[in-house]
Amino acid sequence: MSLSIPLSSPDITEAEVDAVTAVLRTPHLSLGPELAAFESALADYHSIPHAIAVSSGTAGLHIALLTLGVAEGDEVVVPSFAFIAVANAVLLVGAQPVFADIDPLTLNLTPSTVESALTPRTRAILAVHTFGIPADMRGLRELADRHQLVIIEDACEALGAELQQRRVGTFGDLSVFGFYPNKQITTGEGGAVLAHTQAHADRLRSLRNQGRSPQRRVSVDELGGRHPNPHAPHASAPASDWLHHPDIGFNYRLSEMACALGRVQLSRLDDILTLRRSAAERYQALLSDIPGLELPPLTLPVCTISWFVYVVRLPQGTDRARIQDLLANLGIATSTYFAPIHQQPAWREYIAPASTFLPVTESMGPRTLAIPFFNRITAHQQQQVAAALREAISLQA
Ligand SMILES: Cc1ncc(COP(=O)(O)O)c(C=O)c1O
Repeated sequence: MSLSIPLSSPDITEAEVDAVTAVLRTPHLSLGPELAAFESALADYHSIPHAIAVSSGTAGLHIALLTLGVAEGDEVVVPSFAFIAVANAVLLVGAQPVFADIDPLTLNLTPSTVESALTPRTRAILAVHTFGIPADMRGLRELADRHQLVIIEDACEALGAELQQRRVGTFGDLSVFGFYPNKQITTGEGGAVLAHTQAHADRLRSLRNQGRSPQRRVSVDELGGRHPNPHAPHASAPASDWLHHPDIGFNYRLSEMACALGRVQLSRLDDILTLRRSAAERYQALLSDIPGLELPPLTLPVCTISWFVYVVRLPQGTDRARIQDLLANLGIATSTYFAPIHQQPAWREYIAPASTFLPVTESMGPRTLAIPFFNRITAHQQQQVAAALREAISLQA
């Protein structure tokens, strides 16, 4: 019998369907009240003054780097054990990513791995909370202050995680979230940047919207008769500045439908994180006695993990591709989070081979395996995954 257990699965309830449908019944499909409401909810959740919704996490990284003035000639320290957008975004602003190694337990950059990657050209640290485990932001901040560096916090995988009871996304000079469908909450495609200052928020809003002057927040009340986009079908605001572009920017806007979806998802986040934590605990109980298999930490001092994916490390010497095939044949999806960026075909030409020596990253890369993990995964599905993985590993012992 073939199963069908996906790697991830969005969790969309009637509340999300209703919210998106309601938007479709209005004339405001972009830059309307849902954007304002989603941004406010994100800012409030993080107790931070500004949230700027964007079309993806990658877009957020791009304009965060631009806003902090990272440019050609600068170096940015990034993990190689990460999603490729982390390094690509640095290239997009003309700067050079410099890869640093990770801690073997948390899979995150550490102050000492970052310190060994610093040069006189280093301008920024791009710290990722890998798989929802908070990086050591206090240590990284202390290092950044000592070397006058800025920090971009990549919290794309970590919405709701905490470090010393403070939410991730509040430690960086700017921080970035992503809402792709496999994330803790989704907007289909989407992301957000959190900012502490009005100046940063204004710049981000301008970059997101073709370099237009940053619009002040559009409130639900105002939208009765006015709209920031005078070309919107029912807008009555004067077309004074829609085609005026003081800056160079991009179309990184997030639609009203996406914002409505995100707003409802965010309102459910506490429950979502509880479901995901329970699923992680169940896997831990099911898998902990498989010889040689290393599991992700369930708890860490002073941290609250926000479970993004469940990634195991296969026993040394295991043929991972063979394990994946065996599981795929049973209908169980897996993935190889993450192939190190510096070993990706597209990246080799940017890296002097001898200059990149990342022993932990290079040893983790071939061993990690993401197994099915989503809000509504059932205990029964997890038992089936665990049994299949146990069997596949035992065939290679
Ligand atoms: C750490 C990290 N940064 C950036 C991104 C890019 O986000 P998006 O796919 O929304 O562009 C992702 C997406 O998975 C990610 O995991």
